[in-house]
Amino acid sequence: LRSTKIGLTPDVEARFAAAFGRAPRFVARAPGRVNLIGEHTDYNDLPVLPIAIERGVGIAFAPREDLRVRFANADPRFGEREFELAPEIEPYPPGDWGNYAKAAARLLAAERGARLGIDAFVSSDLPPAAGLSSSAALVVACGLALARANSIPVDPLDFADAMARAERYVGTASGGMDQAISLAGERGRALKIDFAPLRIERVELPSRLAFVVAHSTVVAPKSGAARDAYNARRTECAAALARVARAIGAPAPASYPALIARCGAPRLLEAGERALDLTLGRRFRHAVTETARVERAVAALRTADLARLGALFDASHESLRADFEVSCAELDELVAIAREHGALGARLTGAGFGGCIVAACCSEDVARLCDGIARDFHARRPLPAGLDTLVMEVHASDGARVVEAA
Ligand code: GLA
Repeated sequence: LRSTKIGLTPDVEARFAAAFGRAPRFVARAPGRVNLIGEHTDYNDLPVLPIAIERGVGIAFAPREDLRVRFANADPRFGEREFELAPEIEPYPPGDWGNYAKAAARLLAAERGARLGIDAFVSSDLPPAAGLSSSAALVVACGLALARANSIPVDPLDFADAMARAERYVGTASGGMDQAISLAGERGRALKIDFAPLRIERVELPSRLAFVVAHSTVVAPKSGAARDAYNARRTECAAALARVARAIGAPAPASYPALIARCGAPRLLEAGERALDLTLGRRFRHAVTETARVERAVAALRTADLARLGALFDASHESLRADFEVSCAELDELVAIAREHGALGARLTGAGFGGCIVAACCSEDVARLCDGIARDFHARRPLPAGLDTLVMEVHASDGARVVEAA
């Protein structure tokens, strides 16, 4: 295949032929992401700063002439799935991987007139449930495949918005970060993403700066208990916003960006302390202070102030641990070990409750940091099934694409 092989098993053509009795015509590839800073801010319409990474989901596919959508999967833990394209599609039981394919299919049928199905073979080199956005990559890759089969034009930001809405079909009230970075990511750059309306600002990464991702070995599937905890955070943030807006007499409809613009962060934090009880107060404080850290991190990247960036990573983790309460003992320990082995700063990345940390370091320190984490953290723990890498350097990479299968 003429595509980059990333996300695809090497024998994809033979396996596609074995499953469907013909050759694939296209390949859709959608990367996962690492969020550098701005965690649990997207669903509050506050900014995030992720990179797309070189690992992702690849789908080899061929359009069909009817409504059938057929999926085979390279990973034997995930079986085959088959359903019909329609504006309303009955979901599989909660937690079934096929619901991500149905999510994209349902939206494209309901809103973009998709009428032709696909035969599709999915493979992935992104660890699932690791906070690296394997679910959004799957939705985006399915969406792009169906869009191509139906000649539906794709504008990256508009499509990201659609795929973010599509993914709510699985029951998680996610924000829009993962789909936006998977579609619009760029090599060598982070994207500062703002919401409502979705917009991006490119932030060049200093050449001496490297990022290492390490797995806590705690698996946090987005469709399980982590989903309820995630949705609860979202509800708490909305409740905190409503109370503070009322307390300071802000005009409706209230939004976090509008309140920050109106009062400035310091006065808004004081208003939050007066208006909110303990839990909501902590959630509110995280949202407001994390937003300030995103702006400061952009400035630190633009001036190549790596020490400052590291300090912001550390402060973000502390806020996620103490105020937002989405960390766990393993993530805290991993962050501490990363700092001991040369990280400039480290923090949990993604939704938390397990999954991965991201550490910032100087390029020359990558090997030392990876070795130190492997020795002091991973060597002492049993490895979860299905993970091929527990610590790796990641590079800011290009967003999702569809190419012809050569
Ligand atoms: C998950 C969600 C994102 C975002 C992060 C936390 O990855 O899918 O929308 O809310 O958690 O920053």
